[in-house]
Amino acid sequence: MLKNDLLLRAARGEETERTPVWLMRQAGRILPEYRALRGRLSGFKELVETPELAAEVTIQPVDALDVDAAIIFSDILVVPEAMGLTYEMVEARGPLFPETIKTAHDVERMRVADPEEHLGYVLEAIRVTKQALNGRVPLIGFAGAPWTILAYMVEGHGSKTFSKARRLLYAEPALAHQLLRKITDTTIAYLRAQVEAGANIVQVFDSWAGILPPAHYQEFSTRYIAEICQAIPEVPVTVFAKGAFWAVEEFAQLPCRTIGLDWNQDARTVRPLVGNKTLQGNLDPCALYGTPEQVRTATKQMLDQFGPHRHIANLGHGVYPDTNPDNVKVFIETVKEYSARQR
Ligand code: CP3
Repeated sequence: MLKNDLLLRAARGEETERTPVWLMRQAGRILPEYRALRGRLSGFKELVETPELAAEVTIQPVDALDVDAAIIFSDILVVPEAMGLTYEMVEARGPLFPETIKTAHDVERMRVADPEEHLGYVLEAIRVTKQALNGRVPLIGFAGAPWTILAYMVEGHGSKTFSKARRLLYAEPALAHQLLRKITDTTIAYLRAQVEAGANIVQVFDSWAGILPPAHYQEFSTRYIAEICQAIPEVPVTVFAKGAFWAVEEFAQLPCRTIGLDWNQDARTVRPLVGNKTLQGNLDPCALYGTPEQVRTATKQMLDQFGPHRHIANLGHGVYPDTNPDNVKVFIETVKEYSARQR
């Protein structure tokens, strides 16, 4: 039994006494206690792959920030690794795949991963976290959308253009679909296993949605996201596709409960297009660089745009690492106070 189930009730479209709030990337470098623990370890992967440590940093923001949900500490790139493509997390630079997908043979070599066998450390981290949370708040599970995972597997690292990945969609669409098929099958099994391990809601991150033309997005992304939503009927699913403002009416047709908005979108425009879905978002993470008074004003404006119901307050993308945690607290407290008064 959950002591605080605001997030789940809002996701299901039920009325709540105030708007729930959490932050994408809340576990991590904004918190001094995270940096202290991280500094004692060999690297990011040790943290991700040690369930007790992953559980500890998952719960840190619940203690420090009093958010209404925990998100399991992991990364979307554990999926390509489970399929056979190892990643490294290079200090101050980000992810790197020493080998990438270039040919049909490379796609052939990728396996549809078995969650217990290849991602057991994440599932164990979820179990340990659930035990330690003891029902304080819901736990969010997550995975990358197949297109975003393909983008990293083909490109090998972050990129402004992901031109190798986008090239594949034009040059070898059938091969792209073969790889997307394997990623989708892995992701469905993985998210189902997360739910079985205790995740109360799951989020699909399509971080690189916005670099595709709309027609390609429909062909190479939405249809696989739809399959994933369909395969997880037990818990609410949130779809967050950064930059895909043109896909919002398509998302309204998905069998998901919640649609995440980035800060380029205005909730007043989106709301009439999405029927009874819940919306999540979408304060610009840069708004948290202002003074506390500016943070309060921007947060209230955002809450006015969404209205009091069917909203989960969040940022429009992950919190930036150099954000002052005190301003994050102002954001969270403002959501709690102001949204209660909106009712
Ligand atoms: O608090 C949480 O949200 C849970 C943890 C989480 C991480 N990554 C930890 C992490 C989540 C949900 C992710 C998702 C993720 N990872 C996405 C989708 C969300 C988004 O931002 O669009 C993507 C694209 C990645 C891939 C990735 N991982 C990149 C590009 C980087 C380097 C840049 C960066 O943001 O740090 C990472 C590394 C990473 N993932 C860190 C953390 C805490 C930093 C590593 C460190 O502490 O050294």
